[in-house]
Parts: sequence; C-alpha cells; structure tokens
Amino acid sequence: MDKKVSVIGAGNVGATVAQRLAEKELCDVVLIDIVEGVPQGKALDLTEAAPIEKHDAHLLGSNTYEASAGSDIIIITAGIPRKPGMSRGDLISANAGIVKTVTQQAAELSPKAILIIVSNPLDAMCHVAYETSGFPRNRVIGMAGVLDSARFRAFIAMELNVSVENTHAFVLGGHGKTMVPLPRYSTVAGIPIIELLSKERIDSLIDRTRKGGAEIVGLLKTGSAYYAPASAAVEMAESILKDKKKILPCAAYLDGEYGIKDLFIGVPVKLGTNGIEEIIQIGLTDDENTALQKSAAAVAELKALLEKM
Ligand code: NAI
Ligand code: 2OP
Repeated sequence: MDKKVSVIGAGNVGATVAQRLAEKELCDVVLIDIVEGVPQGKALDLTEAAPIEKHDAHLLGSNTYEASAGSDIIIITAGIPRKPGMSRGDLISANAGIVKTVTQQAAELSPKAILIIVSNPLDAMCHVAYETSGFPRNRVIGMAGVLDSARFRAFIAMELNVSVENTHAFVLGGHGKTMVPLPRYSTVAGIPIIELLSKERIDSLIDRTRKGGAEIVGLLKTGSAYYAPASAAVEMAESILKDKKKILPCAAYLDGEYGIKDLFIGVPVKLGTNGIEEIIQIGLTDDENTALQKSAAAVAELKALLEKM
C-alpha cells in the first residue's frame, strides 16, 4: 500500500483498528505494544487471515518504533481501559505517562504524521499528545464524537425500527457524562428526530448514549468497548487517507471557536489529507451552548489535573 498507519497499543482497540484498516485495504499497518510478542503475534495472525479476507495490506508487529518511521497517521490506543466502577477520569495519571512516552517516540520518527488519539480520558490525553509532539493543531485529533454519535444513531435506529444507514447524529463536547448529543441536528432520512420522537423518548436515548461506554464496561466487566471505538477511529483515518473531507465530530484544539480557548473538545470538523481542514461552527440554542460550555468546564478540570501532575 502507498500509505502507512502505525497503531500504538495492540490491545482490544488497537488490534481491532489494525484489522479494520487492513481489511479495508486502506494502508500498511505497524502495530506497536510494550508487551513482548503481542503485537508480533497479532500482526502475524492478521497476516494469515489476509488470503481469506482478500487484502494485500502488510501488517508488522513490533515492540520498538523503527518500523513506524514515516507514518501518515499514528493512532494512539496505548493505556489502561476502564473497569466497572471507574470513570474515564480515574485513568488520568496512568495514561498521561503512557501517552507522553509513546507520543514522543512515535512523533520523532514520523514528524509529518497526523495523530489520532483514542486513549482515555480522551480530551485530556489529546492535550498530552499535542504538547508532547509539538505538532500543529490540525494534526492532533481525538476520537470520541464519532463513537458517541454512532451509539446515538444505533439507539435511534432501534427505537424507530429503521436502517442505521438512514440515521445521522451529532454528539459534541467532552467524552464523558457531560457530552452534548444534539437532537436538533440528528436526523432520520433528513427528518429531525424531534419531529419523529417524543421529548421523553429522546431524553431516554440521550441518557443511554451518555452512559454508552459504562453500559459496555458493565457487561464486559474486564475492560471497555472496542468494536465500535475501532470503527470510529478507522472512519476518521479513512477520511484522512482518502482525502474524503467528511465532516465528523472529533476532539479538536479550540482557539476561540465556540467561545472556547486552549482546550480540546468535540466539535464538527472537516477531515482530509491535512487532518483537520476546518472547524465547522454550527448555530447553537442557548441551552445547547450552555451544555457545551458546561462540558468544556469539565474538560478544563481534567486539564488542570494534568498540569498539577
Ligand atoms: P487494552 O488494555 O486492551 O489495550 C491497551 C494496550 O496498551 C495494551 O496492549 C498495553 O500493553 C498497551 N500499552 C500500555 N502501555 C504501553 C506503552 N507504554 N507503549 C505501548 N503500548 C502500551 O485497552 P483497550 O480496550 O484497547 O483501550 C485502550 C485505551 O483506549 C484505554 O485508555 C481506553 O479507555 C481507551 N478507549 C477510548 C475510547 C474513546 O472513545 N476515546 C473508546 C474505547 C477505549
Ligand atoms: C467508551 O466510550 C471507554 O471511552 C470508552 O466506550
């Protein structure tokens, strides 16, 4: 393939990202993990599936970074996931150190890469990667809004018994309980859901979306979601690799947009070859704006924790 993506962290999310990237023949994949044998084993296993899956993407596993040199995209999934009873914020001290170390090593060898951050707490980890890499803000992007919106879409489709392909949804804000699903901008075949569902039902779908990560943690008990998170990260990578210019909700560094400064927060962005090519500023009602500012305040608290570490 003429594109290369390095996935750091070969755990549940990382390995599934590698699988989807390869099976869609988007790029060659380098899978890196700190645990000896794991990235090598998973890359080899995926390589052996290639004849059946019919793709020619090359996969390589490693515990060091040399093979990642010159990557177009680096997807950071290294870190520890949530267990039942833990909030994403509980992960901050362990994962900040991990994200800093892996960003330093990966960014040095791929100075032109676009970073997609997955590790939690997402918005705070974007800051760590942004500051550590020194990359411009268009090349540091957090994955959360695509996942949260996909969950909202899945719940809307189940509620109305319609194809998920007919659904569209926007969830903005931080990746936590203050996230901001926007029913006004969420549609089925172009029809806003506020015309199709009662306020009570919409509120219930919003509540399930906000608790979507915890619902899966509660079921799995040993870790957190990874199929949908991997699909979300790969949708972002695909838009960049193919210069599709999709508009997707992603965590972006805001410098005054939406009245928010010096903070990574989920907003609609256009993703193409240059990473974030535009931050789309949509109109918000007073209530929606209040919810977004509240979410930004929660992210600012996490960022302040980072500064004390
Ligand atoms: P996992 O435990 O299955 O995998 C994490 C991997 O990171 C492990 O294989 C581990 O060995 C590796 N790792 C740890 N330290 C490392 C280092 N210094 N260098 C290289 N690799 C290292 O966890 P999972 O389920 O894959 O989740 C990964 C992260 O993504 C977690 O922080 C989780 O909370 C987050 N996440 C974020 C989502 C989002 O919406 N932003 C959605 C799902 C997960
Ligand atoms: C999720 O939303 C754990 O952040 C992860 O599933």
